[in-house]
Amino acid sequence: MSPVAFSQAVLEWYDRHGRKDLPWQQDMTPYRVWVSEIMLQQTQVATVIPYYQRFMQALPSVQALAEAPADEVLHLWTGLGYYSRARNLHKAAQTVVEQFDGVFPASVEGLTQLPGIGPSTAGAIASLSMGLRAPILDGNVKRVLARYHAVEGWPGERAVHDRLWGMAERYTPTERVNHYTQAMMDLGATLCTRSKPSCLVCPLQVGCEARQLGEPTRYPNARPRKVLPVRQCVMPMLVNPDGDIWLERRPDSGLWGGLWCPPQLDDLMGLEQLFERLGWHSEAPQVLEPLRHTFSHFHLDIQPLVVRVEPGHAVTEAGQVWYNLRQPTRLGLAAPVKKLLKRAELII
Ligand code: ADE
Repeated sequence: MSPVAFSQAVLEWYDRHGRKDLPWQQDMTPYRVWVSEIMLQQTQVATVIPYYQRFMQALPSVQALAEAPADEVLHLWTGLGYYSRARNLHKAAQTVVEQFDGVFPASVEGLTQLPGIGPSTAGAIASLSMGLRAPILDGNVKRVLARYHAVEGWPGERAVHDRLWGMAERYTPTERVNHYTQAMMDLGATLCTRSKPSCLVCPLQVGCEARQLGEPTRYPNARPRKVLPVRQCVMPMLVNPDGDIWLERRPDSGLWGGLWCPPQLDDLMGLEQLFERLGWHSEAPQVLEPLRHTFSHFHLDIQPLVVRVEPGHAVTEAGQVWYNLRQPTRLGLAAPVKKLLKRAELII
C-alpha cells in the first residue's frame, strides 16, 4: 500500500470505529493532551480516566499546575505509580509558564526540551492538539508497524527502532493528522493486540506482511534472551540389584529445594569420592546421553550415569531412599530427574 492508501485505510477505520469520546478528546488543548499522554504512558485508559478527570478539575490550566504545591500534584497522582512522571509534569509546567509565557512550544523539538517529554509523546501532543504533521511511535504503533512490515529484530535495538521511526514518518499524512494519530493508537490497543490480533476486521489486513506469513504475534520480535552461562554436573543413578535407584532429598533452600534427586557431583572425581564416603564398590559407570536443563539464570548440562552397586546397602539416614521405579513412592522430583528415571527404567 502506498503511504496515502495506508493512511486513508486507517482514517476510514477511525471514522467508523475509532474512539472519540475519551475525556482528553474533548477540548484538545496542548495542556489537556499533554497531561493525558503522560498519564497514559504506563497506564491503561480505563485506569487513567478518573485520575484525569480529577486532575483537570483541580488543575485546569498549565498556570494552575505550575503554581500548585508539589504535594498537591503528587496527591492527585497517588495510585497511578511512576511518580517521576508527576514531578516532571510539575517542572515542565513551571518551565512553560516562566520561559514561554504559558504557551507550549509549537514544535516537536521545542516540546522534547521539556522534562518527561520524549519524541513520541511530543509527536502525540503536536499532532493531536496542534495539527502538526508529527509521527508517533508508542508501544501500540510499534506493534502495528512491526507487523505490517514483518520487521525482524527487537525494537529495543537502535537499528530496529530507527526503521520503525522511518515507517511512522512515511505513513503520517498531512491532512487529519490528529485523527490518524488517534487511529493508530486505537488500532494497536483494540485490534492489533499483543496476543490476539483481530486481523479479519483490520483495515491494514491486505498489506500486512506478518498476517501473510501467518504469524502476526511473532512481531514485534521479543527481546533476545540473554546468553546464559553453562554449568556442568554429573548425576549418577546408583542402581541396586533390585533395580532401585538411590535418591537424596535436597536441602530446602537452593535449586530444586526439598525435591529428591540422584547425587549431583561436579565431575567424575566426585563419583570416586562419593563411593569412598559410602564405603561401597561399583562396576564401571554406564554413560547415558547428556541432558540440558535451563534455569532462569544458567543452563545446567547434566551427564547422567548408571552405576550398578552390590546388594546390601541399606538406607541409613533420613533424606535418602532407594526409589523403586515400578512401585514409586510419592516424592517430589524435579522435571529433569523424572526424565532421567524414565531413561534409566529402560536399561536396568
Ligand atoms: N495511549 C496513549 N495516548 C492515547 C490516547 N490519546 N488515547 C488512547 N490511548 C492512548
